Amino acid sequence: MGDAAAVWARRQAARGIPDAIRRAAPADPWTHDPADFAPPQHPDDTPSRTAARALAERAAAWGCSGASVLDVGCGGGDAAFAAAWPDPSPVSRILGVDRQADMLAKFAAAARDRGLPHGTVQGSWPDVAGEAGRHDVVVCHHVLHNVVDLPPFLTALTAAARPAGGVVVEMLPEHPMAWLDPLWARFHDLHREPSATDSDAVAVLAELGITPRVHRWQRPRRHPHDAAWVTRRLCLPADRTGEVADALRDLPPRRADAVTLVWTA
Ligand SMILES: C[S@@+](CC[C@H](N)C(=O)[O-])C[C@H]1O[C@@H](n2cnc3c(N)ncnc32)[C@H](O)[C@@H]1O
Repeated sequence: MGDAAAVWARRQAARGIPDAIRRAAPADPWTHDPADFAPPQHPDDTPSRTAARALAERAAAWGCSGASVLDVGCGGGDAAFAAAWPDPSPVSRILGVDRQADMLAKFAAAARDRGLPHGTVQGSWPDVAGEAGRHDVVVCHHVLHNVVDLPPFLTALTAAARPAGGVVVEMLPEHPMAWLDPLWARFHDLHREPSATDSDAVAVLAELGITPRVHRWQRPRRHPHDAAWVTRRLCLPADRTGEVADALRDLPPRRADAVTLVWTA
């Protein structure tokens, strides 16, 4: 493992929740609620959407059957549907990979609503990469901070893109839960080391011989993070929501910036 990959792995592993806290948690602090990941009818025009759309248009112009888009860690399919919007779309098929079956159900329902041919593969990337096959565009939004061993994950993303295709990764500049670190200290006396960053991910890509284009931008839309949601993330019982609400008032506002990394296969 290269130095950058080791830094990433150490920082990501340090994001874990100690067993004693996890065992006492009244609800699973990690599982994402599919209701928070419904893809919008009119996606935001972000650098990620622009990059994926451009790759899809290029692939569609070269072939005669439209572009295929693979969405890794698809959730409800924000990334794939954004590339396919608006009509006339260069995207003729999308494939969603996720380890949560309920996310894939949301993805499939949204594809049916839009009349977009689709498939799903349930499982953990890169284990299911063989089943997913190769595509013109590979998108992967907000998944890297779930991964400890990053090189095989990134290598499989690159290998899933056809020659002349490309990969679009979207991530936050630090772990999406890093803004809660002061609350882990306050409620659990747990002091975390700094999060893995987007620059750490770019350094891991460099160790793989990949130099992505990097776009840093401000996010117009945010996932919910009210006191009840934060209470569950902190492994606390619901009757402490009031205390958490008080503590949240002392926190600096959550960062709203995001990063898009783009590279060709
Ligand atoms: C934060 S959500 C992002 C969903 C979507 N990409 C978006 O941007 O709205 C992360 C998703 O990745 C999935 N996930 C995390 N690690 C994964 C892995 N190694 N393989 C497949 N899915 C994964 C989770 O189940 C979850 O649905």
